[in-house]
Amino acid sequence: MQFKTKIRETKYHHDFKVYSMKKLVNDLEFMKNLKGDSAVIEAAELLKKGEVVGLPTETVYGLAADAKNPAAVKKIFKAKGRPQDNPLIVHIAQISQLQELISQDISDKAEKLISEFWPGPLTIIFPKNKNVPTETSAGLDTIAVRMPAHPLMLAVIEKSKLALAAPSANTSGFPSPTRATHVYNDLKGKIPLILDGGFCHFGVESTVIDTRGDKLKVLRPGGISREEISSFLGEEVILAAELKDQKVLSPGMKYRHYAPQKKLYIFNFSDKISVLKQALKKADSKKIAIITARESEFETEDLSNKKIKFLKVFSHTQPEELAQNLFDLLRKLDNNENIAEIYIEELESAGIGEAVMNRIYKAAAAEEYSQPGGGDN
Ligand code: TXA
Ligand code: MG
Repeated sequence: MQFKTKIRETKYHHDFKVYSMKKLVNDLEFMKNLKGDSAVIEAAELLKKGEVVGLPTETVYGLAADAKNPAAVKKIFKAKGRPQDNPLIVHIAQISQLQELISQDISDKAEKLISEFWPGPLTIIFPKNKNVPTETSAGLDTIAVRMPAHPLMLAVIEKSKLALAAPSANTSGFPSPTRATHVYNDLKGKIPLILDGGFCHFGVESTVIDTRGDKLKVLRPGGISREEISSFLGEEVILAAELKDQKVLSPGMKYRHYAPQKKLYIFNFSDKISVLKQALKKADSKKIAIITARESEFETEDLSNKKIKFLKVFSHTQPEELAQNLFDLLRKLDNNENIAEIYIEELESAGIGEAVMNRIYKAAAAEEYSQPGGGDN
């Protein structure tokens, strides 16, 4: 089916730019008004009819459908061109919705994490209830659930009274969308509606965690860092990608992800002989973009005849700036006809840097510049 895709803002659009999401989510009066907004009502009606809608979350935009309606969930896979074996995250606004999705009591560990990090960018794996269709979990006997912290997403969940399955709202393999226009560029004609909730605050997806078993395992690093979880619970949290047992990985981790159309290379300043040198040589004949925290490192080189666009968009002390801007930048550079290749400075894989580097390794995908756990695995 071909749609004339609409992008709609709510009357409260300005508030998303001015106030923190946390403040808005906790403001009962604001949430009540938002639920009465005509854009929210339209989105909820479409979802109840089994349609898919692009919606903002605090991490990235999601492509949502009723998690319990197999026909609706199939439309998500079709619109994105998503592999059938990659399960979806289900989004809820109330803990009572969680009970209907899972088949066992919530464990003590999961309960602690929920009380600390929900609403927020933490997705938890639970044993799946039989009434959740196999399309949503891609045949697994577990289900991934989170409570997002964007007021607009929460308002739509509450208005529709549905638990919403929602992967990132990009065409499979492309960088995730952090603006409504990114969703539009990927999915126009394929979906009826996108709600515009502004620029996404985190910019990288939620952390996916498995609390079953004796060790806590992060299946996908994301908005909440391993360090935060570990210090909150007072125990070690391991990265599943570092385990040799591939079975514990999220099914989605084996696919190429987040990638711009242009070639992306990773460099660091102690690596001058290889990637960086190659970059500067290439900049004789074609224009390259260099995303870096330390433009000053280049001052010793003669760059007068080089074709380089420098983008100093982050500092190493604030990796969350790169997290927020990464996908937006990759999409912008892809659309800039003058740029042939993109180079990005490596940052320390700690805190949110772990999630950022995970996305960058995957986006780069060229094996010689990737680390274990990156590329196409
Ligand atoms: O921040 C986010 O998580 C965003 C927003 C929209 O909420 N959503 C998102 O969804 O990133 P998606 O589908 O792009 O990524 C979901 C990841 C995939 O790697 C998938 O394999 C994994 O979660 N996943 C989903 N269900 C799982 C399960 N039952 N067991 C293990 N991994 C699962
Ligand atoms: Mg995704």
